[in-house]
Amino acid sequence: MNDLSKPVYPGAVVYDQEEIRSISEVIENQSPFRYYGPNLQGKTDAFEKEAAQFFGVKHALAVSSGTAALMVALRAIGVGPGDEVIIPAVTFVACAGSVVSCNAIPIFCDVDESLNLDPDALEQCINERTKAIMVVHLQGSSADMTRILAIARKHGLKVIEDSAQSFGTTYQGQYVGTMGDIGTFSLQINKTITAGEGGLVIMNDDELHERAIMAHDQGGVRNENGYVIVNPDCPGFYGENYRMSELTGAVALMQLRKVTDIVDTMKVNAAKILDGLVGIEGLALRKNFDEEGCSYVSIAIYLPSKEAAIQAEAECKENKIPGARLYQGLPTYAYPFVLDKLTVHSSGCPFSCPLYKGNPRYEMGMCPMAENLIARALFIQVSPLFTDEDIYYIVENLKTILGKYAR
Ligand SMILES: Cc1ncc(COP(=O)(O)O)c(C=O)c1O
Repeated sequence: MNDLSKPVYPGAVVYDQEEIRSISEVIENQSPFRYYGPNLQGKTDAFEKEAAQFFGVKHALAVSSGTAALMVALRAIGVGPGDEVIIPAVTFVACAGSVVSCNAIPIFCDVDESLNLDPDALEQCINERTKAIMVVHLQGSSADMTRILAIARKHGLKVIEDSAQSFGTTYQGQYVGTMGDIGTFSLQINKTITAGEGGLVIMNDDELHERAIMAHDQGGVRNENGYVIVNPDCPGFYGENYRMSELTGAVALMQLRKVTDIVDTMKVNAAKILDGLVGIEGLALRKNFDEEGCSYVSIAIYLPSKEAAIQAEAECKENKIPGARLYQGLPTYAYPFVLDKLTVHSSGCPFSCPLYKGNPRYEMGMCPMAENLIARALFIQVSPLFTDEDIYYIVENLKTILGKYAR
């Protein structure tokens, strides 16, 4: 039996000789930079090419993290001072942070029972300052994309799909990240595939791709030797460095080739756990808009109260099963710096920016569904390495724990 007290790292636990060989090739050839070197291996290029094929999109751009992917996506679609970007109230803080780092304002939208952005709440968040909607597919489960895309289209808004936690998830047969204007992914260690750090941006639009390349690489273009050049035909703009290294690309490429196996195995293991839970009195599962497409990074169970969820979490820990609450059971806006609009610069921009004409009130209570659901949600992590013995142990323990707290 596996040690189930450890957190699950789905991509890292399947590292083997393939990742070792791939990264060794980069090191042996002394070429860790993606654009030039003594004997460039083209790992990052290959990762992009295979990622574009995997998703069936025209362009894929490898970047240094999931946060970098969001920054690049926001910059590519032209988000900036004066703009608002709608994000779900339950997500990782990078969603809000990346918007503010682009000098725009995050607007928190309530979630539905899938814990993803609620289309019914979305329209009320839209106004003349809204530039984009950042949908997040939380923990392997897609948002209600049909309705969200229809609303976005109606209002002429761009859609970023933050799929950091959902590499390989599908919705009505389409990979998440491919349905909006631009999709982003993270390769941080908690994610379905990992290179420790790393990210990916995918899109079909040529102009978005061009802008994304420039935004991730000092705002310029490179010549055939890989050097950033002054090019009067392409003036560029100020940019940053969000590039992926060849060391990261080497591992990312091997992980990408494993992603279908990882996701398929997690789905099978999740299905076995879910089967085992059938019949538990009071069992309330997270809503899923596409049961078959869910990549089941975790199984989320709603307990009747926050207190019950805290007790259940403690008993999972005691019994060494991988069940925990997410984000301390809080929406993103519960961070003090979000509530108080504390930015890195003392001017308080973008909130105090003269180009910004809104005045968002961030306060506890503003997204009641989000606060209610995340407080009482327990996430059972799913590993591609679970054995039947592990699953039996998890199910038997959950039956006892949920028997006490689910009603
Ligand atoms: C939904 C979401 N977006 C963005 C990120 C940021 O990714 P990274 O940690 O690679 O910067 C994460 C990371 O956990 C995430 O969960």
